[in-house]
Amino acid sequence: MAGEKVTQAIFLIWSLLLTTSLGRQTNFSSFPPDFEFGTATSSYQIEGAWNVDGKGWSMWDHLVRTAPESIYDNTTGDIAANSYYLYKRDVEILKELGVNNYRFSISWPRILPYGRPDYVNPYGVAYYNALIDELLANDIKPFVTIYHWELPQNLNELGGWLNEDIADWFADYARVLFENFGDRVKHWLTINEPDVHCYFGYESGSHAPRIISPGVGYYECGRNILLANAKAYHVYDEEFRASQGGEIGMVISMEWPIPKTDSADDHEAVQDFIAFNIGQYMDPIFSENGNYPKRLIDRVAAASTKQGLNTSRLRPFTSEQIEYIKGTADFLGLNHYTSKLVYRNESLEGRFSVPSKHDDVYIDELRHPSWPVDTGFVHEYAPGFYSLLIYLKNTYNNPKIYVTENGCSTSTGLNDTFRVQYYRNYLSALLDALAEGVNVKGYFAWSLMDNFEWSFGYTLRFGIYEIDMNDPERKRVPKMSALVLKEIIRSRVIDYNYDVDPYAPSGAFVRTASIFTIILLATLVIILRIY
Ligand SMILES: *[C@@H]1O[C@H](CO)[C@@H](O)[C@H](O)[C@H]1NC(C)=O
Ligand SMILES: *[C@@H]1O[C@H](CO)[C@@H](O)[C@H](O)[C@H]1NC(C)=O
Ligand SMILES: *[C@@H]1O[C@H](CO)[C@@H](O)[C@H](O)[C@H]1NC(C)=O
Ligand SMILES: *[C@@H]1O[C@H](CO)[C@@H](O)[C@H](O)[C@H]1NC(C)=O
Ligand SMILES: *[C@@H]1O[C@H](CO)[C@@H](O)[C@H](O)[C@H]1NC(C)=O
Repeated sequence: MAGEKVTQAIFLIWSLLLTTSLGRQTNFSSFPPDFEFGTATSSYQIEGAWNVDGKGWSMWDHLVRTAPESIYDNTTGDIAANSYYLYKRDVEILKELGVNNYRFSISWPRILPYGRPDYVNPYGVAYYNALIDELLANDIKPFVTIYHWELPQNLNELGGWLNEDIADWFADYARVLFENFGDRVKHWLTINEPDVHCYFGYESGSHAPRIISPGVGYYECGRNILLANAKAYHVYDEEFRASQGGEIGMVISMEWPIPKTDSADDHEAVQDFIAFNIGQYMDPIFSENGNYPKRLIDRVAAASTKQGLNTSRLRPFTSEQIEYIKGTADFLGLNHYTSKLVYRNESLEGRFSVPSKHDDVYIDELRHPSWPVDTGFVHEYAPGFYSLLIYLKNTYNNPKIYVTENGCSTSTGLNDTFRVQYYRNYLSALLDALAEGVNVKGYFAWSLMDNFEWSFGYTLRFGIYEIDMNDPERKRVPKMSALVLKEIIRSRVIDYNYDVDPYAPSGAFVRTASIFTIILLATLVIILRIY
């Protein structure tokens, strides 16, 4: 009789706890079943094998040989993560993570050593065939970036992104990829991050091709990228879509601006930041009317006039070009890392060189000192990610979005607690945005592994897998963030209540809020003892 009462009491407690726990579960929102998870890389940053099997030179191969001082630690991507040889291990770790998608890029000069399709390198085609087949055999969908900054050097010598012919060069190259891989690749990304590419490549000159052409080259590059994207889109649409049935988008990186104060000036500064850094690429493709934002057109035209020029440094699109570019993305590939505080005050007078992008946009930017950072330029401020997603939904009629990059750099090896917190917070912000109806279909963490971070060389580590660049075998070892992401992907919820020991052989879980679990287990033990 007493035993029965105890059992009843225990049963009651247990049901109560279970109900609370279920209640808690439903309070957590979770990623929908068809939400896609993946990780991302790019060819120059991981492949190595820079001069084997018939590969031509890219402008980065040229840069690291002719101007090694432009890389912070004097390194190169000659070997990098050696993925040209280790791609099977890459697929293995993707499998380990439990992702069903992998975003990687194809090296233009590995396929077309001289940039043009009159000679297609069979070894290059064979490499990407092998990678794609290995992915598909493991149930992982390839998301392929056609251009992630590896312009063949001889096309660079013909003017590269400053030559309007590049729209043809790029579309011809893209056609070779659709022909060779489009039977299996159903998600194409044309060009990665126009603003970053054009700013560092043609304005500040800290990236290849190191052309310092402030306020001129920067806009020409962006304009030609929009034309090239449009041309490749139309090639796919007209020649391949019907038979291959895939989709094609463009990757645009965006930081989110927060006004430093509530002043009218700072709110204006936010609008300017958006027009130059977001609208310049988004509006021509995704807005109802196409073309650049009016604010951008007017601002650069006014500055150009003031500088005694009779045409704007932002060359206008013809009405045919506006129509040709409009709608040339089936989805937006969104890269987002961090936010900025923006503001404007009188002390800007004389601060920027003339002409320049900075002088045109005429604002000050900084990272809020309270936003956490480990190393590098990515400061954690997840509410900015949420605001950006809401902005894109409201401004561009809720476009379909894949988050094609999100991540941060850390300096703490496998114990990357900063990155763990970063991913939990940014994925929570993404969940909040999904709840508001933002049309995000998938999320790719940058990056699958440590790699060559452009002008930072190997000094900034963005990988969720660690690689010791002195280890000839380039072993891939999961950091704590890889183990936590794996759990998020498996459970599809974000639970802050555990840690993972990255030094334990297979990543031991450590519940940090375990009292609840202990009570449950204790109850079970008591029940088992009674019977
Ligand atoms: C449930 O969600 C609400 C709103 O997001 C939050 O305020 C509350 O703290 C959550 N409760 C639990 C138990 O997590
Ligand atoms: C890089 O090379 C330059 C010039 O050769 C040298 O002065 C500098 O110390 C090197 N830096 C590193 C980190 O090796
Ligand atoms: C603009 O100025 C250039 C010389 O700076 C001149 O060659 C050109 O004809 C002018 N164009 C117009 C439309 O006035
Ligand atoms: C104006 O900008 C200068 C330089 O960035 C800064 O030091 C100063 O605090 C700013 N003033 C205001 C009122 O924000
Ligand atoms: C990992 O780093 C955290 C600080 O971020 C520290 O508290 C903890 O002791 C470290 N763990 C190990 C095993 O080094």
